[in-house]
Amino acid sequence: MADERDDIRSRVSIVELVGQRVRLTRAGKDWKGLCPFHDDKTPSFTVSERFGTYRCWACGEHGDIFTWVMKTQNVEFGEAIQQLADIAGVKLERKGAPRPEQKAERELARAAMEDALLFFREELARSEAAKAYLTRRDLPLDVVQAWEMGYAPDNGEAITVYLKRKGHSLNLCKELFLVDQDPSGGFFDKFRGRLMFPIRDEQGHLVAFGGRLLGDGQPKYINSSDTPLFRKSRVLYGLHRARDVASKERHLVLCEGYLDVIACHRAKVTTAVASLGTAFTPDHAKLIKRWADDVTLLYDADEAGQKATEKALEILEETGLRVKIAQMPAGDDPDTLLKRDGAGSVLKVVQDSQSPMDFRFRRLEKKLKPADGAFWEEAVQILATAKSDLEFDKHVVRLAGLYPEIPNPVQAQSALRRWVGRVRKGQPGPAPVARSKARHEPIPNLKIHSAEAAIFRGLFEPTTSAKSHEVVKGDQWLTVAGRELAAEILTALPQPPDPDEQDLWVHRIENPEMVQLLTLIAEDRRFQPFGEQQLTDALTELKKRLEQAELQDLKKESGKGNEIVARLKKMRPKYDKSVETDMF
Ligand code: UTP
Ligand code: MN
Repeated sequence: MADERDDIRSRVSIVELVGQRVRLTRAGKDWKGLCPFHDDKTPSFTVSERFGTYRCWACGEHGDIFTWVMKTQNVEFGEAIQQLADIAGVKLERKGAPRPEQKAERELARAAMEDALLFFREELARSEAAKAYLTRRDLPLDVVQAWEMGYAPDNGEAITVYLKRKGHSLNLCKELFLVDQDPSGGFFDKFRGRLMFPIRDEQGHLVAFGGRLLGDGQPKYINSSDTPLFRKSRVLYGLHRARDVASKERHLVLCEGYLDVIACHRAKVTTAVASLGTAFTPDHAKLIKRWADDVTLLYDADEAGQKATEKALEILEETGLRVKIAQMPAGDDPDTLLKRDGAGSVLKVVQDSQSPMDFRFRRLEKKLKPADGAFWEEAVQILATAKSDLEFDKHVVRLAGLYPEIPNPVQAQSALRRWVGRVRKGQPGPAPVARSKARHEPIPNLKIHSAEAAIFRGLFEPTTSAKSHEVVKGDQWLTVAGRELAAEILTALPQPPDPDEQDLWVHRIENPEMVQLLTLIAEDRRFQPFGEQQLTDALTELKKRLEQAELQDLKKESGKGNEIVARLKKMRPKYDKSVETDMF
């Protein structure tokens, strides 16, 4: 391998190679230019033919011909060495390298495709119908030329005859999706009466075509299927034009269609690409990842487009890309927006794009209302995807005001936070809203003693939950609310909580006020940290208070003797004034 590398290095001039992209001027023995790896104001980038290296003295980027190709084209070493070997005329002795006959076949296929493109472009120039269509679609000549658009005439065998005359094998052309064969073996044109969009891969090789009917009809577009040169899921329309800016900005804009990409580039959104007549796939996302870290989704504003946005968003995020979603005016795609409101509006829509979370909530709020339980099931799932506390808080605060179950927004917030916490831990979501509609008797005094609160707090801590549960079953309550709460808890949670799904049971409690109280207790910072010691202390405190209360009662009744104490014990809960100083 090292031999091959040296061989290639000796035959490829780094100055020539780099010079294809960077304007180099001589500086002594070396060459100088503006660094392509950072926003260079003064020429800090030098290339040395002697050493076969480049280096930027400002940003530190450096390497040889191999790293140059890898970095500027975002390819792996294998692809870089192959490309350079081609330039050098060196044959690589590698496993997996294409056999000579395969290579020859690829050359033939490429030649046939390029000839087909020439044909389509010539046909466009002479077709009045096609030119009228371009005018109707507001596509000026410079745009048509930049994107090499063509026209496939509608007479059945036009390109078939042309390709044959040019010496191309029609069987190969059939594999390339240019012609097809009828049952009797006769060849005919695959694209007829269509405006043609050549599709180039990221290296600029012509690999496929898309063709749009000039008028209405079905199918609106025909696209090359997979061919020896083309894998649909590995190519993005427009990437060969977008890639240089994209790799600098590490950002791409993803649209739905050919004309959207073209509209974007016309609107100075020059990093726009589109997947081709197919759904967006993980392979597309991987391709994008090589060029960008950020993606803006710019799909049609219609329902189909928004659904597709949801899917693409998921795939892009799974691939580790940061995503934003552009919001088009209803009924528009970039092409119609450009036509009606001009380039500035397309650019603005991209600049104003929103976070995935904003997008998901907007979709949810269109689909469901906060009065539906299902709304909250989805809302917490969305909240759980928050990328930052800032974003999370923004939505929790907003949603808390809509939460029908808990009118107090602060309490609603904490209930939502806890629910999201459980979702993040992968625990199944409870259904706090869809609880029984039965009317609850309001509890006259929801106040409980802080030692009681501490007992309940213990239920939310894996280390104390079992013991707390045991205590909750006891009869040591100071307040009515404490005893009521204990009873409700035991109904919802007859057994100690499972440490893995600790908090789910809270939402099985029927009385919403009780749920509120419990949520407050669970969240209260005064109980942080909480452990065995805190639980024991609370129990001791509770018992002490109880004895005091009983003692007072005893004094009041001024009775004596054990039978009174026994009777009073049955009269619990009760508390004296001193208890009130320490209420939760
Ligand atoms: P659209 O139906 O949104 O078309 O499909 P468009 O790009 O806006 O084109 P115009 O403005 O109606 O002429 C979006 C993309 O989906 C693919 C094409 O790639 C198209 O650009 N598509 C659509 C197909 O492959 N086949 C079809 O029949 C329709
Ligand atoms: Mn469209």
